Amino acid sequence: MNKFILLIALAFLSCKSNEKTVTPTGLVSNKAMVVSAREEASEIGVAIMKKGGNAFDAMVATELALAVAHPQAGNIGGGGFMVFRKANGETGSIDYREKAPMAASKDMFLDKNGNVIEGKSTQTALASGIPGTIAGIFEVHKKYGSLPMSEILKPVIALAERGVIITKHQAESLNNNRETFIKRNGRNSLFSKVYKENDTIKYTALAATLQRIAKNGRDEFYSGETAQKLVAFLAKKGGNATLEDFQKYQAKWRTPITFQYKKLKITSMSPPSSGGICLNQIMKMIEPYNLSQMGHNSLKTIQVITEAERRAYADRNFYLGDPDFVKLPIKELLSPSYLEKRMKDFSFDAASKSSDIAAGEIKGYESNQTTHYSIVDAAGNAISATTTLNDNYGSKLYCDELGFFLNNQMDDFSAKPGVPNLYGLTGSEANSIAPEKRMLSSMTPTIVEKDGKLYMVVGTPGGSTIITSVLQTILNVYEFGLSMQEAVNAPRFHHQWLPDEITFEPNSFSKEVLENLKKKSYIINEKDKEIIGQVDAVLVLPNGKLEGGADRRGDNKAVGF
Ligand code: GLY
Repeated sequence: MNKFILLIALAFLSCKSNEKTVTPTGLVSNKAMVVSAREEASEIGVAIMKKGGNAFDAMVATELALAVAHPQAGNIGGGGFMVFRKANGETGSIDYREKAPMAASKDMFLDKNGNVIEGKSTQTALASGIPGTIAGIFEVHKKYGSLPMSEILKPVIALAERGVIITKHQAESLNNNRETFIKRNGRNSLFSKVYKENDTIKYTALAATLQRIAKNGRDEFYSGETAQKLVAFLAKKGGNATLEDFQKYQAKWRTPITFQYKKLKITSMSPPSSGGICLNQIMKMIEPYNLSQMGHNSLKTIQVITEAERRAYADRNFYLGDPDFVKLPIKELLSPSYLEKRMKDFSFDAASKSSDIAAGEIKGYESNQTTHYSIVDAAGNAISATTTLNDNYGSKLYCDELGFFLNNQMDDFSAKPGVPNLYGLTGSEANSIAPEKRMLSSMTPTIVEKDGKLYMVVGTPGGSTIITSVLQTILNVYEFGLSMQEAVNAPRFHHQWLPDEITFEPNSFSKEVLENLKKKSYIINEKDKEIIGQVDAVLVLPNGKLEGGADRRGDNKAVGF
């Protein structure tokens, strides 16, 4: 039998997933739910829905509440992506990604010898793209919101005024970054102070900024007092953004990436995020294999997923960028014949080599940033949104007058083709810097349907690991029969083509499986790094109730009613 017939046979045998009935282990609610990185934000999102608001109103509230309660990633100084599915089955997505200022240029982070200047794209005022969050939420509200914006903002402003109690995770994170905050913002800045668990931080300046936004609307941030103060702040710190950059910023509705995996219909983010395309490629490459029979986190399952990831990330890094600037070969990358050909040289006998798939030298560095929230309302509308400052606390430049951190999203561009960014991702010309261009992202807010009905809302932070964490969470439920909470808790692994290694969550995988992978020439990285995401997800149970999956790795919390 030739290999193609074998693959078709495998596809036929594997078209059934592990569909046994599973007992939920996460929070179960009857009607509506928000799962986010902080209880305060999930509570506010739910309160808005209890007041009669829909999932879109709850999105606005949750996004802004995260900007208050989770300042390391929640933001008004950054950007994000949101995928939605309305109760009537209509799907869509919005891109509120940052974009490069008009003064940006291809070589802006290189020295006169053409080498990348370390830290310039991550730690300076030049690292910030024009923030999109406020444009994004106002655009969503204008099209789909139901409650007045002022009403949605009220509990968020109250939270900022009242202050937020510092959790153990947050105290650790703030203290780990304190020296950098002092270096960037001086000793008197809000985050330069010493905080310990259970202290309360009051966000007075942010509350005032949000008050002005509530009063003056979107323009407050893009041409009003806030815009003017922000441009002056960035200029003082050596940035290049102008008021015109802010005035020109627009969030954009995009057609999401949609594809079928066995009985599931997956809707995820399209470029300028690589998330949807990469997820589509990986899931189509693994579809012919019977994963549920191979077993959860077994040798064979890890091999199949790793090899699909290796090939998809190689494509990501070569081909993808801002669709408004570069022609992307999306149809070709997603064509069944291309994906079948891509996996042709995979063998269970030994690891493929990334250098045989494409060339490159790499050093890896990862951090945990970005934040995701998932929402389902009582009518069945669903929101999957991922928002970010890029690195933890972005560039760590904090504007005390306005009360927020600035992103360092410019680092998501490819400063120089072949040189890795913060996430060890190497890029190509497609993702080079240009004025007003959006930088390539890995954010993968995703909505899954089964039998034409809403099934799962899922997403995560984690830089380059976002795509593979979303993938594993879907497979954990659908192929391996885990509950939503178990699926989120399960240990994860990641391969991104370069560096040519599989990263495993430390001390979580069978020693025997790791030894067998090594025998097959896989390079194992099991260092204690906080990189494999914090998934926040909602599963619609067979009885119509909702199960939350709030990641045990952080302060994440599901709240529902
Ligand atoms: N800054 C992380 C991402 O957009 O993928």
